[in-house]
Amino acid sequence: MGDRLVGVASFSPEPTPYRPGAVAWRLRGMAVDASVQGQGAGTALLDEAVRRVRASGAWVLWANGRDSALGFYERHGWVVHGEGFVTGEVDLPHHVVVFDL
Ligand SMILES: CC(C)(COP(=O)(O)OP(=O)(O)OC[C@H]1O[C@@H](n2cnc3c(N)ncnc32)[C@H](O)[C@@H]1OP(=O)(O)O)[C@@H](O)C(=O)NCCC(=O)NCCS
Repeated sequence: MGDRLVGVASFSPEPTPYRPGAVAWRLRGMAVDASVQGQGAGTALLDEAVRRVRASGAWVLWANGRDSALGFYERHGWVVHGEGFVTGEVDLPHHVVVFDL
């Protein structure tokens, strides 16, 4: 922490069928260095992203959330949607998670 880079995430405009017609942004590639997980870096990243994306005028943030991380998103008010699936990018089970801004 301090001035060390410990986390990454990217955000870009992309619609979601779970909020038809909404101005939506997608979160991808969220990760915190394993050595500092559980110390609030993920929360800080997510909070700042929500602030910026909301300020841009978007209505919704969404992601394909790894099942192993769904508790993290739910703790921050994101809602799990639909059936689980395995993505081609990383061979792990996921669900769509949505956060109304
Ligand atoms: C998921 C991840 C980004 C969370 O970042 P973090 O810095 O560890 O999270 P924080 O320390 O801010 O945790 C915030 C809260 O969420 C909880 N939490 C964190 N990861 C969790 C998980 N995988 N499942 C359930 N709860 C989790 C913490 O216990 C904490 O709860 P508290 O507020 O009661 O203390 C991080 O653990 C990670 O990079 N995991 C591996 C990669 C990954 O799964 N990325 C997401 C892909 S969709």
